[in-house]
Amino acid sequence: MNTELRVGVIGVGAIGRTHIERINEKLQGAKVTACADVNVEFGKTVAEKYNCKFYANGEEMIASDDIDAVIVTTIDPFHEQYVMAAIKAGKYVFCEKPLAPEPDACRRIVDAEMAGGKKLVQVGFMRRYDLGYRQLKEVIKNRTYGEPLMLHCAHRNPAVDESYTTPMAVENSMIHEIDVLRWLLDEDYATAEVVFAKNTRRTHKDLMDPQIMILTTKSGVRIDVEAFVNTGHCYDIKCEVCCEDAILNLPEPSNIEVCANAFRGHAIHSDWSTRFVEAYNVEVQEWINATKAGRVDGPTAWDGYAGQVTAAAASKARDTQKVVKIEMEETPEFYKIRFCL
Ligand code: NAI
Repeated sequence: MNTELRVGVIGVGAIGRTHIERINEKLQGAKVTACADVNVEFGKTVAEKYNCKFYANGEEMIASDDIDAVIVTTIDPFHEQYVMAAIKAGKYVFCEKPLAPEPDACRRIVDAEMAGGKKLVQVGFMRRYDLGYRQLKEVIKNRTYGEPLMLHCAHRNPAVDESYTTPMAVENSMIHEIDVLRWLLDEDYATAEVVFAKNTRRTHKDLMDPQIMILTTKSGVRIDVEAFVNTGHCYDIKCEVCCEDAILNLPEPSNIEVCANAFRGHAIHSDWSTRFVEAYNVEVQEWINATKAGRVDGPTAWDGYAGQVTAAAASKARDTQKVVKIEMEETPEFYKIRFCL
């Protein structure tokens, strides 16, 4: 396709609008030509601002001739219906994570995509597009320093509001680690466990904070991920990979070093949207390029399914305080070129 890809965005809330802006203002080869939202009044103002056609009905937008491809950025429970509509229309679809909240819903998407005979779905796991994770991936893939044995990771936020409750540490925060570490190591998980630390004074009654998720992979790599979402001071993502011959660390995004007032150091991010802004740009640009070439290069519906199966096991482990086995069948041939970035 030589012309611009015409994109329709469903759900024009926070991330929906940032995707519209990056496509229209920063990236190349695409333009948002339509948007849809259940909040009709608000949706119309967004359509007017970005000069695109508004649809009160998302399925109508997907089926219309106004768009070539779809971005789904509604709240999680509605991802399935719109991804399914895109598959039915034979249109490429980028769905923000999670593909769907329940593994069964992800499985229905996988089955529908396989029945249609063509990969169309990409899931918005943007960590795979972060330069630092890509550098780690290269070294691990080549076994430059031997086999990876253990990973120590952390996912820290400055603060969350009262709507953020205990299950969300796995399902909304550490789901990113679940995906990116599976991609880094190129293997599935075998078991999950979640343990609690002493609660911070900054938490509230419905949130155990911090929590530690422990995963093992099928080959025996041991991973611990700390989710601490009320640190009070920073957005901090750590990933230390202990290999046989070296310890590898995810690099910090670079910032100038400042020496002043008897202090030497550099600013760090306090928010995920600035920490990963470049990753989002690369992610959506690569999705545009692949879509125009008629391919899905990024995280597939199967990756979305694998992520939710693992998250469900970790949630069960947290609720039962037991180690839970992760039962998942082999990747189907259809999805075999799995880690294709
Ligand atoms: P939001 O609440 O700001 O926006 C959601 C929008 O969807 C709202 O405008 C709402 O009116 C609309 N909506 C709700 N139900 C709908 C329906 N049935 N049909 C059409 N529109 C509907 O939410 P936010 O923060 O923008 O998140 C959206 C999605 O993006 C979520 O699934 C979230 O998990 C994901 N996300 C992913 C991130 C990442 O790091 N990859 C970061 C932030 C969000």
